[in-house]
Amino acid sequence: MDRIKIVGGNQLNGTIPISGAKNAALPLMIAALMTDETLTLENVPHLADVEQLIRILTNHGVDYSVNGRREEQSQRYSRTIHFTARNIVDTTAPYELVSKMRASFWVIGPLLARMGQARVSLPGGCAIGTRPVDLFIDGLKALGADIDIDNGYVNATARNGLVGNRYVFPKVSVGATHVLMMAAAMAKGQTVLENAAREPEVVNLAECLNAMGARISDAGSSTIVIDGVDRLSGAQHRVIPDRIETGTYAMAVAMTGGDVLLEGARADILESALDTISQTGAEITQVNSGIRVRRNGSGINPVDVTTEPYPGFPTDLQAQFMGLMTRARGRSKITETIFENRFMHVQELARLGARISLSGQTATVDGVENLRGAPVMATDLRASVSLVIAGLAAEGETMVHRVYHLDRGFERLEEKLAHCGAQLERVGE
Ligand code: EPZ
Repeated sequence: MDRIKIVGGNQLNGTIPISGAKNAALPLMIAALMTDETLTLENVPHLADVEQLIRILTNHGVDYSVNGRREEQSQRYSRTIHFTARNIVDTTAPYELVSKMRASFWVIGPLLARMGQARVSLPGGCAIGTRPVDLFIDGLKALGADIDIDNGYVNATARNGLVGNRYVFPKVSVGATHVLMMAAAMAKGQTVLENAAREPEVVNLAECLNAMGARISDAGSSTIVIDGVDRLSGAQHRVIPDRIETGTYAMAVAMTGGDVLLEGARADILESALDTISQTGAEITQVNSGIRVRRNGSGINPVDVTTEPYPGFPTDLQAQFMGLMTRARGRSKITETIFENRFMHVQELARLGARISLSGQTATVDGVENLRGAPVMATDLRASVSLVIAGLAAEGETMVHRVYHLDRGFERLEEKLAHCGAQLERVGE
């Protein structure tokens, strides 16, 4: 398995291109199942999770083609991909595929809407939590689906099609909002989703579905209204820039010092995190081509953070922020409210000399003057990049093991950072 070797101490200066958002691309790709025409998606990042979802979609019978730069280049850059689900040959999403990338479970909505049936493996938990799907099941039942679970599979049928209804989410769920919005798009009548997720990726999906002929309003607010239509057509749509990648690299600059342009980044979809990063002492300015992040010699201010559904501070930036706080001039408290086990990075950061104590869902970080490089292990996608951020500022060499976690969600990470002066490289085991 690959590792990433980092020698810390360099500032970051230059430009980092921000890729298409993983968490926008995945639901957009799944929406291709809802029409027999071609859905063209631009700015699709080249990530392991995207490749895994392509395997799931082709298993259902979806054809796809990639266009863009020369073959060897397009292997590493965001691409335009055309998806055509002319015929759905199989309405089962098998365990061996779904268990590798839990968002694959989301195919249940489009399959039900288009085919009236779906047999999808339960996704199972992951490092950060049990990841239940009860909200998906309750919501689809509210739209008239018959659902039973046997042998680790969710069997859903809606022989006479889905029927619009009002559904109130007992808790905010991004995935369940995506799935119910897609299912309702082709249900009979109107659906009102209350306490829906407000993430920009939900808005990106709603805009794509509307381009395909759906009638969805107020996506991005807590109450989404969907008037069902009989069928959806093909469309062309662009994946929004990755706000988690943007926040991650902004924190890396705040950690090392320097001056970096995050090219293509959008500040309007990341206001809470950018405001928090500014409070730590980095200077964030929105410019035409993206977001400029600077931190001069002054130190890193400690800032308390609590993760919340959008527009609050994103849970997907919690680990990275903790990495930054390990060198703050004082104490900060970081509270995780979304997932029950998202502190796997704590013991690895401690190996670099960080001083962190845990009490329930709150981590207390006492910043230290210097971190010292050491071998560390990535445990999940966002935890792995918090180790990279710490390693960039640690004295000496940090070796991050199991970087396949990184490859799930960060396109060309070591190339983007090395291009700005970081001393890091990918090495084989
Ligand atoms: C999406 O996951 C993201 N993944 C996650 O990013 C992100 O952390 C999460 O939203 C929260 O913002 C993708 O978009 C592919 P949820 P999702 O449903 O939809 C509980 C990353 O690093 N819940 O909003 O699976 C759940 O256990 C990933 O890119 C139920 O209880 O998250 C969690 O505690 C990690 N029952 C909370 O809700 C359900 O039926 C929020 O989960 C569904 C969820």
